[in-house]
Amino acid sequence: MEQTVSNLPDGTAYRISGNGKPVIFLHGFGESGEVWDLQIKELSKDFRCIVPDLPGTGLSTGAFAALTEKSLEALAFKVKAIADQEGLNKFTLLGHSMGGYIALAFAATFPHMLNGFGLIHSSAYADSEDKIANRKKSIKFIREQGAPKFLEQMIPTLYGEKFKAEHQDIIDAHLASALSFDAEVLIAYYEMMISRPHRTGILSGAQIPVLFIMGTEDKAVNLSDSLAQCYLPAESHIEILDASGHMGMKEDPERTTIAMKQFLMHLNEN
Ligand code: MLT
Repeated sequence: MEQTVSNLPDGTAYRISGNGKPVIFLHGFGESGEVWDLQIKELSKDFRCIVPDLPGTGLSTGAFAALTEKSLEALAFKVKAIADQEGLNKFTLLGHSMGGYIALAFAATFPHMLNGFGLIHSSAYADSEDKIANRKKSIKFIREQGAPKFLEQMIPTLYGEKFKAEHQDIIDAHLASALSFDAEVLIAYYEMMISRPHRTGILSGAQIPVLFIMGTEDKAVNLSDSLAQCYLPAESHIEILDASGHMGMKEDPERTTIAMKQFLMHLNEN
C-alpha cells in the first residue's frame, strides 16, 4: 500500500493512500491515525483514504503548540483545512470515539461537505456528571503520576475481556505506540471532551446516512447509549460487534472493515 504524507501549515500531518471517493478517518483519544491501519490496507483499494494524526499525536506532535483554541470544534476546522487543501467538496467522515465527537462537530458546521459520516464506538451524548468526575480524577492522576502510568492503566480497559486474555501482544503494541504522548496533550484532549455539547440533534437532523459500529463489551461508550442513538438519523447503518470492546478496528478488524466498506459503497451508489 503506497502512502504519501502531507502537512497543513501548522504541522498537522495526514497520510493519503488509494484512489476513489474520498474518506477522512479520525482517530480517538490516546491514539494516532495508525489505529486505522488494518482498515486502510483494504479500503484504499477502492477509496482515497485520508488519515490525519490529530495535533499532538503521531507525526503531528509539533502541531499541538500551534493549537490556539483547544476545542473539538477547532479540531473540526482542522478537518476542514485538510479537505480544502485536498480540494474535497464532498467526502465521508468516519471517527473513532473522540474522532466521532469531532465528526459530529464537523457535521454541525459543514453538513454540506459530507455525503455520510460514521460513529465508530462513539456517541452524540455530552459527558455525564460521572464521566466528568472520572475525567477530572484522571487529569489529577496524569499530573501526579505522569502519562505513561495513566496509559498503562487505561489502554487495557478499552479491550474486551476475551480479546485481552488472548492478544496481550496487540495491547502491548497499542501501549508502546501511545507512550510518547505528553501529559499536557492528554489533559488538553480530556478537557476538550469535558466541554463538548450534546449533539443528538445532529443525528436526528441528519439528511445523510450515518454508520454506527458498536461493541457489546465497550466500557468507554456503552452499547445501550449507542443503541439509543442509532434510531435517530433517517438512515442508519448499524454493525454490532459481539464480544468487542472499544477497539473494533483491532478486535474485529474484518467485520469493522466490511461494515465500513459496505457503507462507503452504498454512499457511492446514491
Ligand atoms: C476515545 O477512545 O477517544 C475515548 O475513550 C473517548 C472518551 O473518553 O469519551
